[in-house]
Amino acid sequence: MESTLTARDRVGVQDFVLLENYTSEAAFIENLRRRFGEKLIYTYIGSVLVSVNPYKDLEIYSKAHMERYRGVSFYEISPHIYAVSDNTYRAMRTERRDQCILISGESGAGKTEASKKILQYYATTCPVTDHMSTIRDRLLQSNPVLEAFGNAKTLRNDNSSRFGKYMDVQFDFRGAPIGGHILNYLLEKSRVVHQNHGERNFHIFYQLLEGGEQDQLSKLGLERNAQKYHYLVKGCCPRVSSINDKSDWKTVRKALTVIGFHEEEVEDLLNIIASVLHLGNTQFGEGEDGETQITTEPQLTYLSKLLGVDGPALREALTHKKLTAKGEEMIGPLSFEQAVAARDALAKAVYGRAFTWLVAKINQSLAFKDEVYNSSKGSSSVIGLLDIYGFEVFQHNSFEQFCINYCNEKLQQLFIKLTLKSEQEEYEAEGITWEPVKYFDNKIICDLVEEKHKGFISILDEECLRPGEPSDISFLEKLEDTLGGHAHFVTHKLANGKTRKAVGREEFRLIHYAGEVNYTVNGFLDKNTDLLYRNLKEVICQSDNQILSQCFNREEVTTQKRPETAATQFKNSLAKLIEILMSKEPSYVRCIKPNDAKQSGRFDEALVRHQVKYLGLMENLRVRRAGFAYRRRYEAFLQRYKSLCPGTWPNWQGRLADGVATLVQHLGYKPEEYKLGKTKIFIRFPKTLFTTEDALEARRPALALTLQTSWRGYRERAKYHRIRNAVLVIQSAWRGMKSRRKARRRRHAAEIIRKFIKGFIYRHYERCPENEYFLDHQRFSFLMTLVRNPPKSVLDKSWPVPPPSLTEASEHLCRLCMQNMMRAYCRRIQPEWKKQMEQKVVASQIFQDQKDSYPQSVPKLFVASRLDSEEFNLKVIQTLGNDKVKYGVAVTKYDRRGYKARPRQLLLTSSFAVLVAEAKLKQRIDYAALRSISVSSLTDGFMVLHVPSEDNKQKSDVVLQCDHVIEVVTKLATMADKKNKVNISQDSIKFAVARGKEGVIDFTSGPELKVAKGKKGHLLVTAPQLNPR
Ligand SMILES: Nc1ncnc2c1ncn2[C@@H]1O[C@H](COP(=O)(O)OP(=O)(O)O)[C@@H](O)[C@H]1O
Ligand SMILES: [Mg+2]
Repeated sequence: MESTLTARDRVGVQDFVLLENYTSEAAFIENLRRRFGEKLIYTYIGSVLVSVNPYKDLEIYSKAHMERYRGVSFYEISPHIYAVSDNTYRAMRTERRDQCILISGESGAGKTEASKKILQYYATTCPVTDHMSTIRDRLLQSNPVLEAFGNAKTLRNDNSSRFGKYMDVQFDFRGAPIGGHILNYLLEKSRVVHQNHGERNFHIFYQLLEGGEQDQLSKLGLERNAQKYHYLVKGCCPRVSSINDKSDWKTVRKALTVIGFHEEEVEDLLNIIASVLHLGNTQFGEGEDGETQITTEPQLTYLSKLLGVDGPALREALTHKKLTAKGEEMIGPLSFEQAVAARDALAKAVYGRAFTWLVAKINQSLAFKDEVYNSSKGSSSVIGLLDIYGFEVFQHNSFEQFCINYCNEKLQQLFIKLTLKSEQEEYEAEGITWEPVKYFDNKIICDLVEEKHKGFISILDEECLRPGEPSDISFLEKLEDTLGGHAHFVTHKLANGKTRKAVGREEFRLIHYAGEVNYTVNGFLDKNTDLLYRNLKEVICQSDNQILSQCFNREEVTTQKRPETAATQFKNSLAKLIEILMSKEPSYVRCIKPNDAKQSGRFDEALVRHQVKYLGLMENLRVRRAGFAYRRRYEAFLQRYKSLCPGTWPNWQGRLADGVATLVQHLGYKPEEYKLGKTKIFIRFPKTLFTTEDALEARRPALALTLQTSWRGYRERAKYHRIRNAVLVIQSAWRGMKSRRKARRRRHAAEIIRKFIKGFIYRHYERCPENEYFLDHQRFSFLMTLVRNPPKSVLDKSWPVPPPSLTEASEHLCRLCMQNMMRAYCRRIQPEWKKQMEQKVVASQIFQDQKDSYPQSVPKLFVASRLDSEEFNLKVIQTLGNDKVKYGVAVTKYDRRGYKARPRQLLLTSSFAVLVAEAKLKQRIDYAALRSISVSSLTDGFMVLHVPSEDNKQKSDVVLQCDHVIEVVTKLATMADKKNKVNISQDSIKFAVARGKEGVIDFTSGPELKVAKGKKGHLLVTAPQLNPR
């Protein structure tokens, strides 16, 4: 199998054009044989596919194989039926021309199989939608139905098609199958009533008997035994090992449903099949009066039921005939032989017409009905598949073989016309010199058969219609008279010598293009007229069976016109077929049968040689080799291979012919290898093309890379542009939004400013719409200022100025705020500090705004004592006894007289103060005796303690100077409870020196502290000026 998987298989040559010795038939057959031996059943002659029946399932028809052939050029891969299918399909799509595939070959060569493979290929690889899949299924399912009714086992083929079939598959513009149509040709009806030894009737009879349900068979009056039916036992071969009638029946029943047959239609169809079998079993005998009568009553009953006709009428029609003599109708009895013939004719007619009805019914279901598609009908294309009986030669050949072989003559003629002739014509049209190839043109034989008046069919028709007693023998004589002397017609009488022996007396011989065939003249006239007695027709016309009533037209009975003879009908339908095929581009599949025994692996050379000859394959090859193996329009060739030459890559700008010339020069084609025509390049040897293909193959990765790169570039650029555009959109939207927001803010701001200004103008008015905003704002901002910037401490007296409307509230707030802060402050305060504060309060009550040195004293903390305990004299402490010294300070005492300064300690106890010099208590001043205390308003530290002088024991007033005068006075005044007795004098202090005698201290401000004796015995103190009050 490996070899079939590789791109090109190498057994023999895959194209006969590559044969060295192309004129040798032996070489040709040897190539076929070698390839067949390797299971390579397909070989080309140019574009014609030669196929040899393997008689065995090869694994080359899988879906993977189909995919491999899809879209691949013809020469790139090993020959296959799929390559032809694909090529045809692509040609249809790209060139928009209808195509047809002609499959020819003798019976059993594999034509029907080939056509099925092609159909399967399309069904699998073509794009389909849901709707189309129905059509696709029906196309596929039409095969088993037609095969059941139209195929039979013959000696040559277990599944031989006994009718010709041409099938159109319709594709829409997307290449999807959308419909189909079948034309059928000349069903071999004689098989219904007679089969040669070893052959069978049509499959459907056996399928029904084997597969039909018991109920169904009983209804039809049938038994499950083919042996019981006369029409089925003529060939003595009811069973065939390769056929499974039972399962085939199931397939057919399913297929009928898929195609869309109604149950009633199937029933009518089965009634017809059964009635044929009953007809076969209808026997005749002689009555009492010697008349012919039916002896099998039950059959008649079934027949009238199944055919849906009147029983007695049928009985009469089967045993009598109507004659028209001198315008009068008469009924006459039939002889035994005539009755048998009438019965058989009825069976054939009923079956034959039912088959035609079946095809019509299938066509209805395949017809392409969709209205949407109808509008696009113009753009649909068609691929036709012709699977028609091949050339046949039997021991005894009759009318059927004559028709079949005539058909093959016509097809050969078409083949000649389309390939051989058109090949030469093409060379001429392209202006390429050409040596004409001799070939046998079989037109002469076609004319012999079909020419008007003189031809075989005309003579046959004439003889059939002739009044008098025409017979097959008289017809033979007529033929001898008219055609005698024709090179392709011989009879016993006309021949001489050896030939005479070979042709019987009741035979004639036609020398067909494919060989000589002797035909027995017996039965020609009957088969041609296809006679069915009129009274039988009349009875069937009345049938209740819907199919029969459609098949047998009443007009047929009433009209006087003679129906067309079978041969003329066939001739006309063939002419139509040829016309259909001529309008399409053909492809060919030539099928060859390797042996007559249906055996795989056996290659019977003589048999193959015969087929090679009559299929005209050698001629075909000669023409191919004489000419050119390959041709392609310039644009197609250039398009495919332009990447192989820098001059033509990526695009050729000039004339196409020049481009191709440049390309082939670059590729190194030798002059004898190719010719340039007007629109096409012709390449003589496929080898040249293969080399070019190989080069292309080698170049592909690089090309793919380039394509990938540019594709990626394109994709990334597109992506970049997309993103960029998106960014721009976002940006502009964002900017827009921002600007709008800004504008909105500005508008709002302007509004506020406007309101503000207006409000400012109206600020002194009562609240009104003009000023309400302003006033609110004022209030708000005042409150906010307070919130954000409240007074930091109790000492912080800053307070924003309230708007008039909030004056009162502001005051309340201010008070509350202060209270709050004070409360907080008070809560935080320590006992010592409280004491300190109390003293400071006393100091402030006494000195604030009175003495210059007061402000400096405020931040200086008062201390418990200015003298440490060790500075106290122990003696003094002992002297004081229980009176504890609460405060001590160093002072300077000035004598009242003379103002001598003496250092002293002033000690305060709880009830008196003492002046101490060393260990001596100099003076004790009881607080109760202390009248008042005087200090100056300046920055000096003088103080005078006034004590009563009446008391002699007591010394008089004391003049002291101390650095901590405010502290000392405060403490003293507090302890002595003389806060109200502190006098602060502006300029001078008077004091008692002795009884009735006063001293004066004058105070002045000066640059520095100076104490001196002034005039009038005054003490003059100059106090430094600090901050003026
Ligand atoms: N490609 C094939 N592969 C396998 N068997 C085939 C092939 N072609 C034909 N046959 C066999 O040969 C038989 C006859 O083929 P068929 O197509 O019916 O012949 P024809 O239609 O030419 O009379 C088929 O039933 C099948 O068994
Ligand atoms: Mg067939």
